[in-house]
Amino acid sequence: MLRQIIKRGSSSVVLSSRIARAVPSRAALFHSSSTQYSASKTVKLTAESYPNVKRDERYATLEQSDIDYFKSILPENALIQDQDDLLFYNEDWMRKYRGQSKLTLKPKTTEQVSQILKYANERNLAVVPQGGNTGLVGGSVPVFDEIVLSLANMNKIRSLDTTSGIFKADSGVVLEVADQHLAENGYIFPLDLGAKGSCHIGGTVATNAGGLRLLRYGSLHGSVLGLEVVLANGKIVSSIDALRKDNTGYDLKQLFIGSEGTLGVITGLSILCPPRPKNFNVAFLGVESYEAVMKTFVKAKSELGEILSAFEFMDESCQELAKKHLKTAYPLEEQHPFYILIETSGSNGEHDLEKLEAFLESAFENEVIQDGVIAQDETQLKGLWNWREQIPEACQINGGVYKYDVSLPLSDLYGLVDAARERLTQAGLLGDTEDFPVIDAVGYGHVGDGNLHLNVAVRRYEKSVEKALEPFVYEWVSSKKGSISAEHGLGFQKKNYIGYTKSQPEIEMMKQLKQLYDPNAILNPYKYI
Ligand code: FAD
Ligand code: MLT
Ligand code: ZN
Repeated sequence: MLRQIIKRGSSSVVLSSRIARAVPSRAALFHSSSTQYSASKTVKLTAESYPNVKRDERYATLEQSDIDYFKSILPENALIQDQDDLLFYNEDWMRKYRGQSKLTLKPKTTEQVSQILKYANERNLAVVPQGGNTGLVGGSVPVFDEIVLSLANMNKIRSLDTTSGIFKADSGVVLEVADQHLAENGYIFPLDLGAKGSCHIGGTVATNAGGLRLLRYGSLHGSVLGLEVVLANGKIVSSIDALRKDNTGYDLKQLFIGSEGTLGVITGLSILCPPRPKNFNVAFLGVESYEAVMKTFVKAKSELGEILSAFEFMDESCQELAKKHLKTAYPLEEQHPFYILIETSGSNGEHDLEKLEAFLESAFENEVIQDGVIAQDETQLKGLWNWREQIPEACQINGGVYKYDVSLPLSDLYGLVDAARERLTQAGLLGDTEDFPVIDAVGYGHVGDGNLHLNVAVRRYEKSVEKALEPFVYEWVSSKKGSISAEHGLGFQKKNYIGYTKSQPEIEMMKQLKQLYDPNAILNPYKYI
């Protein structure tokens, strides 16, 4: 029976062939005719959207002598001062925040980063470290006139030990480039996310990104072996040659993983990469309720065991947005309130497929799932992933998106989406016409990790929407003992809300660390804590 369902889905649908599992670069978005973006449609300045946040007058203002110094240590093309060129570095991916930086620096070496920071620290010039600028909490762009320190030109792969799987590289290597290099040598980067075509490996470490396969490979806190970091005063501290086991003293690298550029600039990293699975299978399923999502997850863990590498869920509303955005045939013929994407990966394709089919057959017979397709080839596999990975863009493309990336106990996870939708409806903000700022409140995410992405897709950014949702969402999450940031970090968006998840003594310790390593607070100000 299931085979029929699978067959019906896969034979009647030509899955779109996805060129790459990557988001287009922001530069591409600016010029894409399929979106409403244009360089002329500028984003409101953060300083105007948040007038309560004032420029900290202890920071110096950039002078010609500063530019002259940076020119003396960097090649000319490493300084960006043109207003149009600076737009990319000033605006975030969601087009929600815009800073007013007049200078972006693009060093090529760790020594240059060190010289820049030493100088900035002595001059009290504020600096925003920036990777691929795909961050989703406004942490990667300036708020006022901070200098942007882009790691984009630090993009050399340093080494791969093909015996141990230890990979070393500059922090500005794009995640997809790193993974491609590893693939050629039989390894895989132990992190995968929809922004892989643009984000930097250093940026993912700075945010402690989670992504689509955390379920299989765990957090970067476990896989990163060592970091090369430049502190605010220009001092270079490196543990990049650390081996897998090292119990000498404090594990200092952990401080920088997820510190979002507030404690130091990551210039290089070493990471333990697992062997690349030889076979991947992907199934896309339709289920009738969120309870069925949970049941399927429990069953998948028990029956697929070690070959389960991703378990993602999506609600009907986010798939409606994805349909409008992708404009290709949907993999399932009938609509369902919830969808699940399951990926298995392992060393024996036939065995894995048999296992997956047996699992699906039993889930179907027990009426846990209603419908499903299994990708028959690489193109279909990428096509199915597309329906999951393109959701962020689908949510944002009609004007903007308010994002809430939270951890919750699995039983409460979807309750937040219902609560947010109800709140927005009651506030008269959600509706089908242009009169309403909100298009819809949708839910998707890494359900296998207890990580929900509540996205509120809007026609325009409006204070009334933010006021209705904040701190409402954080209070709701805190009441369920969840975390207000599962994987995107705090950035600018959540800096005032950390207390909903962390205790006062913990916050005090964080402030002490910041004071110790960046006493002049030049690194990524107005963010984090
Ligand atoms: P940026 O956005 O440039 O910077 C992010 C933060 O890190 C900033 O605070 C910045 O100051 C700091 N930073 C960057 N580089 C350095 C450095 N070298 N040293 C010190 N600080 C630095 N996140 C997830 O966790 N899981 C996902 O599944 C996921 N999917 C995404 C899908 C899409 C389509 C998009 C747009 C984003 C997604 N993200 C996801 C969010 C984002 O956190 C990741 O894309 C990535 O971790 C950011 O890397 P980046 O190089 O773009 O960093
Ligand atoms: C994802 O899982 O797609 C990302 O974390 C991005 C998002 O939350 O939109
Ligand atoms: Zn995510």
